[in-house]
Amino acid sequence: MFSVRTVPLRLRQCSKYYSPFFTRRTIRQALAMSTISEAIIKDHREIEQYYNEVINNAGDHDYQTRYGNQFIWELARHSVGEELVVYPAMEKYLGEKGKDMAESDRKDHAVVKEMLKTFQNMKSSDPDYVNQLQKLWGPLSEHIKEEEERDLPALEQQLQAVEGESTSMATSFGRTKAFVPSRSHPSAGEHPPFETAMGLLAAPIDHLADLFRKFPDQKVSPNPSTK
Ligand SMILES: [Fe+2]
Repeated sequence: MFSVRTVPLRLRQCSKYYSPFFTRRTIRQALAMSTISEAIIKDHREIEQYYNEVINNAGDHDYQTRYGNQFIWELARHSVGEELVVYPAMEKYLGEKGKDMAESDRKDHAVVKEMLKTFQNMKSSDPDYVNQLQKLWGPLSEHIKEEEERDLPALEQQLQAVEGESTSMATSFGRTKAFVPSRSHPSAGEHPPFETAMGLLAAPIDHLADLFRKFPDQKVSPNPSTK
């Protein structure tokens, strides 16, 4: 994550270059450089990392709770972000093929969200905690593979025809993730706009409850608007 600290000291001391405006603008520009595929794939790698942290630390319940919560937080926001930004774009740019892809991806999400809901209601001390996460990882890893190998390359190819579209979608995806729920709400559905809108009503409650959950970096809660 970019921060003031990432600006070299000498540059910071030079008032010509260092100002809050300069820093904010530079951060925005740097964040805006990625394509939608890069943004999605970056999330996938993070989700994988959090999964591995839970799986590989059996017995350390506090550690597993922190990374389990981080996994839920990231996956829930990522999923709704895709439903609101990426799947409509597939339908728009890839015609019938895109509609089929989006429909299949939404069905995958519905299955994973149900399993995530079960997982998020478990304590790390539960003997089935890791089992439930591994069970969820089966369909989720298949879904991730399919998105990366089939959906995103097809979408990216079409987006190339419209200058700046992929980058602009990456920015929208990032912004969308800041206001969507951070827990799983499968009954809210995966079909925008109406069913997803129902899910969005849960977002403020999720964000408030996050204040009281444990996360890996000792923060009270990761701030969605900074990711
Ligand atoms: Fe994804």
